[in-house]
Amino acid sequence: MRGMEEDIAYTLLTEKEIYDKVHEIGKKISEDFAGKDPVFVGVLKGCFMFMADLIRCVNINSEIEFMAVSSYSGTNSTGAVRINKDLKGDIGGRHIILVEDILDSGVTLNYLKNYLMVREPASISIATLLDKPARRKAPVKADYFCFDVPDAFVVGYGLDYNEKYRNLPYIGVLKPEVYSS
Ligand code: IMP
Ligand code: MG
Repeated sequence: MRGMEEDIAYTLLTEKEIYDKVHEIGKKISEDFAGKDPVFVGVLKGCFMFMADLIRCVNINSEIEFMAVSSYSGTNSTGAVRINKDLKGDIGGRHIILVEDILDSGVTLNYLKNYLMVREPASISIATLLDKPARRKAPVKADYFCFDVPDAFVVGYGLDYNEKYRNLPYIGVLKPEVYSS
């Protein structure tokens, strides 16, 4: 059987590099949102590992919620965003921090931001693990990001290719032959 590791061209970010940077961002968020009781809204499924590590580095009162959206199949965005799981509670007057695995075209987060804005939260910020600025189509900027990544398809630490590789503890570049075959 072909193992996961054989499909990885090279390691882009090690566990240690990720850990250190997530720690730094968590500290920054704790300072910026002290006394504001923010709501971390994770965008499933890609966010799950980043979310779990990030909130453990946040030492202020906060709440955790999740949304699920789909916009992708394979390595390309379909351009259409669908909400598969919405927030139940009222976010009016609350400080929202959207937590994403990767900001790519920006279509997903741009849509989500506008979608939630209507409920009149006090603010909406974006915390993303990875940012691929070269691919941006929608006008979105991350308030907090851990790493800029080159225009290659990356997997691991929550990020998938057709639902696989999410459990890799580091972030690697997928071999193009895996998605072109
Ligand atoms: P956007 O709407 O184009 O910004 O897409 C964001 C979503 O696309 C992310 O939440 C990921 O699920 C997925 N995505 C974009 N680039 C990659 C990648 O390199 N690896 C894995 N998933 C990706
Ligand atoms: Mg995905």
